[in-house]
Amino acid sequence: MIHPTPDQFHHCAVTTGGTVTEASPAVELLDFHPAPADVRAEVIAGLSKPQKSLPCKFFYDERGSSLFDAICELPEYYPTRTESRITRDNADAIANAVGPNALLVEYGSGSSLKTRILLDHLHDLAGYVPIDISKTHLMASAESIAGAYPGLPVKAVCADYTRPVTLPTFDGDPRSVVAYFPGSTIGNFEPEEALAFLQSVRKTCGPGSSLLIGVDLKKDPARLHAAYNDAAGVTAAFNLNVLRHINRELGSDFNEDAFHHHAFYNVPLGRMEMHLVSKRRQSVTVGSGTFDFDDGESIHTESCHKYTVNSFRRLASSAGYSASVAWTDPSSQFSLHQLSA
Ligand code: AVI
Repeated sequence: MIHPTPDQFHHCAVTTGGTVTEASPAVELLDFHPAPADVRAEVIAGLSKPQKSLPCKFFYDERGSSLFDAICELPEYYPTRTESRITRDNADAIANAVGPNALLVEYGSGSSLKTRILLDHLHDLAGYVPIDISKTHLMASAESIAGAYPGLPVKAVCADYTRPVTLPTFDGDPRSVVAYFPGSTIGNFEPEEALAFLQSVRKTCGPGSSLLIGVDLKKDPARLHAAYNDAAGVTAAFNLNVLRHINRELGSDFNEDAFHHHAFYNVPLGRMEMHLVSKRRQSVTVGSGTFDFDDGESIHTESCHKYTVNSFRRLASSAGYSASVAWTDPSSQFSLHQLSA
């Protein structure tokens, strides 16, 4: 699964004018031809900052996506299985809140178990619209959903989902639009980016729409620490993989063995941070640029913000959403919010 995260938000303009193709017998594709990331410019900009950083979207090459899937299965990484459990335990209530003849708009290509749990309980959907920047992932997951739910009209949208887009039209007016953003990917956005994203979803789906969103909750830092420092070292491999990915894309000479994974809970900012720490003084060449590292100097690769139910409601409310319900698991590790625009 791909988890693009925003680096720029242009939430004023609505992306319109995509091309519609019958991408496969089961799935129509509305393609806005999103511009590919300028990897070189983004990497050089991040490494030029006083606190060096790399965008977390660069985790997700093929190997990184498989490593993320493996993280979701780890005993220490509670978010995925907890959100699935919340969805399963409250599926009837969620289906009631969604109501009949709704259009389900999923942010990210949704082939996950959570999406299927939801679709298993939403019997009278008007249609399903996954939105993703990666056409390959989008079409693979859209086709697998269309195959598993043969009566469900599926129209995939290839676009940068951090910006507003025009949704495809469906026969027979859908009664409502429900945006779905599971996985607590919202936590990987900086708070101001999260706000802009929610405003953009509201613009895409319109007044009267609702939003179903998974949000990881603040908790004992020891639990968080374990989730991002698993004993098997999968998260470490996932973090270090960004260097391998960048070397392949840009011909840079990062030595994975010369960095180590470091993840900690930043209490004042309420977020887990992942870093790659240089094991010694070294220089790395990226294109025509050279970047010097001190022994112990880090590259900040990801932030995972944790909310309380109320702090997330306040954020959503500044984006024009009012809170309806927040379902949590029995030990309040994770929350699934239903909000109204
Ligand atoms: C995709 N995202 C919600 C995950 C998270 O927990 O922030 C990515 C991740 N990073 C380390 N482990 C998992």
